[in-house]
Amino acid sequence: MDGNGRWATRRLLPRVAGHKVGVDSLRRCVRACAARGIAVLTVFAFSSENWNRPQDEVSGLMDLLAMALAREVPQLVKDGVQLHFVGEREGLSPSVRGGLAQGERATAHNTGLILNVCFNYGGRWDIAQAARRLAAAGTEINEDSLSQAMALGHVPDPDLVIRTGGEQRISNFMLWQSAYSELYFTDTLWPDFDEASLDQAIAAFAGRERRFGKTSAQVAGGEQRRPQAA
Ligand code: FPP
Repeated sequence: MDGNGRWATRRLLPRVAGHKVGVDSLRRCVRACAARGIAVLTVFAFSSENWNRPQDEVSGLMDLLAMALAREVPQLVKDGVQLHFVGEREGLSPSVRGGLAQGERATAHNTGLILNVCFNYGGRWDIAQAARRLAAAGTEINEDSLSQAMALGHVPDPDLVIRTGGEQRISNFMLWQSAYSELYFTDTLWPDFDEASLDQAIAAFAGRERRFGKTSAQVAGGEQRRPQAA
């Protein structure tokens, strides 16, 4: 959800004002995804590296998270959204941690859209913590066991990864899970990302050919069987 800071700065507002409008944009996006039958939406709200931002922005984001939880969770419960927070909890204050756990508990029995909010998250962190846990349990480390031990182990790999705000990089987001995802980059800043923007991204996705390492002919179903030896 990149571009909140620039959205605010262009309007001579403090950066945190952009993050506030970013929450509105997230609410709109959650509803739009649910309306389009998307099963899982995973958003990057705070990275392991975001602690390096100015102190007032970091505390502004923490306050915003607490406010957003208090305001949004009752509606998420009504809308059937199942909320998950993905990331390292240890670095977070007890009150933030309590809010995350409470939001998850309140929506745990919902069966609609799964909303993963990555908070104090990094893709490398997730790979390392999964490997550490498997090693500690003496479990064999392979692709399947690692996938399941990841903090995102409860959802399938993403079909589409969207980055707003004009940068064309992954920035430590879902490194393991996005191995075969389609990537979509847009200059639209996150606060401006609306239903039409989402539909554009979905249309671009629909036009991609997903080969998962195969050839185009194989994917089209025209795969020639190798002649059998006589
Ligand atoms: C990146 O934009 C955005 C963030 C670091 C925060 C994203 C958070 C939200 C959209 C609010 C929702 C979060 C909660 C608390 C649930 P940026 O600040 O890097 O923008 P810039 O690249 O324009 O500076």
